[in-house]
Amino acid sequence: MTRAVELIERKRDGEELPREELSELILGYARGDVPDYQMAAFLMAVYFRGLTAAETFALTDAMVRSGETLDLHAALGRKAVDKHSTGGVGDKTSLAVGPIVAACGVPFGKMSGRGLGHTGGTLDKLESIPGFRVEISTQDFLRQVRETGLAIVGQTGDLVPADKKLYALRDVTATVANVSLIAASIMSKKIAAGADAIVLDVKTGDGAFMKTVDEARALARTMIELGERAGREVVCIVSDMEQPLGRAVGNALEIREAVEMLKGQGPADFTELVLDACGKLLALSDLGVDEVEGRRRAEAAVADGSALAAYQTWIRAQGGDPRLEALPVAPVVLDVRAPAAGFVTRLGAIAVGLAALHLGAGRSQKEDAIDHAVGVVVERKRGDRVEAGDVLAHIHARSDAAAAGAAAEVLAAYSFGPVAPEPRPIVIDVLR
Ligand code: URA
Repeated sequence: MTRAVELIERKRDGEELPREELSELILGYARGDVPDYQMAAFLMAVYFRGLTAAETFALTDAMVRSGETLDLHAALGRKAVDKHSTGGVGDKTSLAVGPIVAACGVPFGKMSGRGLGHTGGTLDKLESIPGFRVEISTQDFLRQVRETGLAIVGQTGDLVPADKKLYALRDVTATVANVSLIAASIMSKKIAAGADAIVLDVKTGDGAFMKTVDEARALARTMIELGERAGREVVCIVSDMEQPLGRAVGNALEIREAVEMLKGQGPADFTELVLDACGKLLALSDLGVDEVEGRRRAEAAVADGSALAAYQTWIRAQGGDPRLEALPVAPVVLDVRAPAAGFVTRLGAIAVGLAALHLGAGRSQKEDAIDHAVGVVVERKRGDRVEAGDVLAHIHARSDAAAAGAAAEVLAAYSFGPVAPEPRPIVIDVLR
């Protein structure tokens, strides 16, 4: 194998590395033959020099080959679809998309991750539900998707082990925010998880990795190309993450909001994003419908209760109690009120996410435990007119002191002005 130091040097000097050499480096790192300090230096060289499209695919492909891969199509005997979001504050989209797609007759099997920072990931949210199991063997995962049409489980340790190691290293070496590295990380997991077609929700704005729409489009294009090279159909939604999605931020609170959406009572932005993603997933599926018909069927599944029924069947299949009364409730609820009249001109997603994190809804460190009951529910968002004293948000906390601290943070996340800001759609762009 080419010595790691040579590859670091060549990437540092801006050279394009051949596929075999990149592959050896990544697989060597996954095996433990390349030490962290050399991979850290390599990642920093990549951060500054970037990767070409061919290098990005070579990296992704090596990451996929570092572990187990699934073939959902073969296991289900039909085309399988998957959905992924690059993550944001209050993003509980998969929790509603899964049941709707399943209710429309398309199997939905998703392997998901935990969150670090802000609030929990999809798995943490699901663990708010008493009894719900996320650690399920691959065999049981496939059986559940076949029998009930829906499973969302933790990614097994054998799926893309290289990403697990690389992501942990990137996290502590300031090398996360690189389009090629993010695209390879996300797409390696999606490709290894085995769906034929994938809808990706690329978030943009204050609470997202990609702060500008152009950056989000660049990430979307890179992931679409990686999917194409791996023989997968990929559609990317670029969606707004300037402010939290929906109203709820915090694990059990977000489960409640997802269920409200399935009952047809969700907040407008969250509902729109879910239905848009469902329309695209159904159009990619083997139902033979276009996106307009896919969306119509998704809306019908919400209206006739079948999506809610699919949610309940799914939660029970994974050992959970689907009743909302079973979810944990925080002992303290404190209102945040508007200091003066005006329009909400901004509600910073990160500040609300950090307030939820400080309440205990997320993790600062990998080992941290999560408090599933706590979080923030914002009642007023960008563009809303408020009078002095109106309730802006509710803080759900473990103690009065924690609630007061979070209330100050949430209030500081709001900006007010005399005129309404330009509306910003939740779905900003779609790339195919
Ligand atoms: N999500 C991932 O899975 N990987 C990244 O690098 C960034 C976001």
